[in-house]
Amino acid sequence: MLDAPHPKTNSSKPQQEMISGAFLRNAWYVAAWSDEVGDERLVARTIMNEPIVLYRKADGAVAAIEDRCAHRFAPLSMGKIVGGDRIQCPYHGLEFDGSGACLHNPHGTKNIPSRARVKSYPAVEKHNAVWLWLGSAPADAAKIPDFSVLDNVPELHTTKRDSIVIKANYQLIIDNLLDLSHTSYLHEGILGNADTVESDITAEQDGDDVIVGRHATNSKPPGMFAPFWPDHPPRVDKFTRMRWMAPSSLRLFTGICTMGAEPETGTGYHAVHLLTPENERSTHYFFTAVRWGVKTAEDKLNRDLQTRIAEMRRFAFEEQDAPVIEAQQRIIESALEPLDPVILAVDVGCVRYKRVLGRMLEAENL
Ligand code: FES
Ligand SMILES: [Fe+2]
Repeated sequence: MLDAPHPKTNSSKPQQEMISGAFLRNAWYVAAWSDEVGDERLVARTIMNEPIVLYRKADGAVAAIEDRCAHRFAPLSMGKIVGGDRIQCPYHGLEFDGSGACLHNPHGTKNIPSRARVKSYPAVEKHNAVWLWLGSAPADAAKIPDFSVLDNVPELHTTKRDSIVIKANYQLIIDNLLDLSHTSYLHEGILGNADTVESDITAEQDGDDVIVGRHATNSKPPGMFAPFWPDHPPRVDKFTRMRWMAPSSLRLFTGICTMGAEPETGTGYHAVHLLTPENERSTHYFFTAVRWGVKTAEDKLNRDLQTRIAEMRRFAFEEQDAPVIEAQQRIIESALEPLDPVILAVDVGCVRYKRVLGRMLEAENL
């Protein structure tokens, strides 16, 4: 396939500029999987350079407040939950509730200074995740990206809700996820193989969402999918459809089917990729997968597959994607002059999403 001409769009902005720390603040970001928060635990997360602590209140709702005491800036996440709803600072014992208000000062007259408060953030639990809003516009829960594929599915068909931190800008990870051609190289044998290089690539836009599809026909089933279908044909069609939802949520529909058949008649999984910038050079990466078109009935086999998919994906992201992406980050930021990437045909989705995200960032910063 011929490489696309270099598009004259803001996608051709020098690479350093694209990773220099532009964050869309008026958006929902995943701070944790729901089951990470609870049991009196204080979960510390830095999101877009803001230190935040999450905890579950006595009524079961999740609270998210600034993880920096108003007194001498000790991290509240090193303290403890008292009275069901308040965090006691580990240093001198000021107590803050889920709204960020200080409700108790154990010292002197016990008077609470008016400046003794910390920020609080709107938090919503949806699709088994805790979503936070850090923007100045009103938080609208209807704007949480659609991950209903995670809701009401048999536990055996869902993989571990997992996460890693990648020491790179979130946009380099979106680039990786929207360019599915890399599976044939970086994940050869597990998520792709030489047969899947020559695929038809499509890119479309659905409102502000960007969807990149790849369809490889007459392919040996990649190692990940073969066991999903015990009597699979020797050659199959392999397909992937990745949807990017601004600013950094991605949902993949992927699998294999009989050659020439409709993809939906096959088997595969929905993969969920949720990226939350920690800072300009580091990103929380939450992931899980849900099987569809399940062709294996036995619980034991399904349990084995559940573990295997989770382990294989974690291996692919942590041992194969992350080292290359982190190395890219180091190379890009240490370049002595502006870098302008060559654009290949496989970058069609990246060009599109950068255009949409660029427009949103500009609108937010007007
Ligand atoms: S630093 Fe928190 S009470 Fe002193
Ligand atoms: Fe990858």
